[in-house]
Amino acid sequence: MAKQKVQAAKGKLGILLPGMGAVATTTIAGVYAINKGLSKPIGSLTQMGRLRIGKRTKVNKPFIKDVVPIQKLKDVVFGGWDVFDDNVYEAAVHAGVLEKDMLKKLKTPLSKIKPMKAVFDKNYVKRLDGTHIKKAKTKMDLAKALMKDMEKFKKENKCDRLVVVWCGSTEIYLEETKVHKTLKALEKGLVDNDPSIAPSMIYAYAAIKMGVPYANGAPNLSCDVPALIELAKKTGAPIAGKDFKTGQTLMKTILAPGLKARALGLEGWFSTNILGNRDGAVLDDPDNFKTKEVSKLGVLEEILEPELYPDLYKDFYHKVRINYYPPRGDAKEGWDNIDIKGWMGYPMQIKIDFLCRDSILAAPLVLDLALFLDLAKRAGMSGIQEWLSFYLKSPQAPKGVKPMHDIFQQQIKLENTIRHMAGEDLITHLGLDYDDDKK
Ligand SMILES: NC(=O)c1ccc[n+]([C@@H]2O[C@H](COP(=O)([O-])OP(=O)(O)OC[C@H]3O[C@@H](n4cnc5c(N)ncnc54)[C@H](O)[C@@H]3O)[C@@H](O)[C@H]2O)c1
Repeated sequence: MAKQKVQAAKGKLGILLPGMGAVATTTIAGVYAINKGLSKPIGSLTQMGRLRIGKRTKVNKPFIKDVVPIQKLKDVVFGGWDVFDDNVYEAAVHAGVLEKDMLKKLKTPLSKIKPMKAVFDKNYVKRLDGTHIKKAKTKMDLAKALMKDMEKFKKENKCDRLVVVWCGSTEIYLEETKVHKTLKALEKGLVDNDPSIAPSMIYAYAAIKMGVPYANGAPNLSCDVPALIELAKKTGAPIAGKDFKTGQTLMKTILAPGLKARALGLEGWFSTNILGNRDGAVLDDPDNFKTKEVSKLGVLEEILEPELYPDLYKDFYHKVRINYYPPRGDAKEGWDNIDIKGWMGYPMQIKIDFLCRDSILAAPLVLDLALFLDLAKRAGMSGIQEWLSFYLKSPQAPKGVKPMHDIFQQQIKLENTIRHMAGEDLITHLGLDYDDDKK
C-alpha cells in the first residue's frame, strides 16, 4: 500500500484549551508529571497503545507512536482561556482532582500558565459568573480577538503548530438553525450577534478559520454544524466532536455491542449518577442538562438498531439522569440497571456501579485527541475525523451516514486509519490463510 505522506512532528506543539477547569488542569498536570518521571500516561493510546502490524504469524506489535510520528510530550506547551483568572496550579487545587502533594511538585510550571480572557456569555451557562471576559461589539470581533490570542501564543511560545480542544462548560441546548447551514450565513450571524451562535462556536470558528485542528469535548454544537465543516475543508483543519466518552457511556458502548453480538434482548437501561464538581453544578440547570442528555441518549439506538432487530430491541426504555451531589466532588458514581432478556424471553438483570473519577478518565482523551488531530493535520487530512469517534460520546459523522458508537468498531477504524497513514496493510481479521486445511 502506498504510504501516506505524513510530515514529521518538528518543533513545538501548542495545545490550547478553552475552559481550564478540572479536565484541562488534570491533563496539563499529568503531562508535566509524566515529563518529570513522576507518573505514567495510563489511558492514553498515543503514549501506551500498541498496534498489530502484518500477519498474526509474526508477532509485531509496536507502539503506535513508533508507527506514526506523534508529537513528543517534551515538546508540548499548554495554554488556554477561562472566565476565571486562576492560574493552572490554583485551578487544579480548586478542582480537587489531584493530590496536593503531587500538585506541589508541579507548582512552578503550573503557576506560569495563566488563562487568557474568555469569550463568554452567561445566557449559555447560567450557573457560572465569570469576570475574566473579553468585551467587543460583535461575535465576529470576539472571534478575531481569539485569533489574535492564538497568533500571539504561537509566537511567544515559539510553536510550530497549534491545536485547540474545548474543555469548557456544557452550554444550554441549541439546535441547528439557518445560521449554521453555510459559512456565509455563519459569518453574517457572527457580525449580527445571532443568538444561535454560542461562545463555544466562536472558539471553533476562530481555530478552524486559522486552519488549526479543533476538538470539542463537550456536547455543545460548537464545530458540529455544516458551516464549520465547510470551513474546515476550506482551511485544511481536521475536526472532531462531540463530548468526551468517559464513564457511563464508555461502559455502555463496551457492553451493548456484546449483548447484541450474542443476540440478547434489552427491555430497559436506566443510568443515573452523582457528581459534585463544577461540571455537575453547571449540569444541574435543566437547559444545560438537556444538551448532555441528548448527547448520551443516541448511543444505544445506533448500536442496537431496533429497526433491524424488533424482537430484541423494539421499544426498549432508556433513561439517563445526572444528579449534582457536592460531597463527591470529581469522584463520580454511576449506576446502571440493565434489564435484558434471553432464551424464550426469560428476563435477567445486570447492575453496574462504576466508582470513577471524571477528570482522570477524561485527561488522556484530551491528550490523545490533541496529538491525533495534530497528526491528521500533518497527514493532510481535514474536516471530520471519524476515526477519532473512539473518544467521543456523540461523534460527528460524514453526511449520509449514522455516527458509529460501538467502541470495538471505533477501535478497528482508529487502528486501520493509523495503518493507512503508515502505509501498512489494513487488518480485516479474515485469517483464512492461517487455516491448516489450506496449507
Ligand atoms: N470529565 C468528564 O468525564 C467529561 C466527560 C465528557 C464531557 N466533559 C465535558 O468537559 C467539559 C469540562 O469538564 P470539567 O469537569 O473540566 O468542568 P469544569 O467546570 O471544571 O471546567 C470547565 C471550565 O470551563 C470554563 N468555561 C466555561 N465557559 C467558558 C468559555 N466560554 N470560555 C472559556 N472558559 C469557559 C469554566 O470557567 C470552567 O473553569 C464540560 O463541558 C464537561 O461536560 C467532561
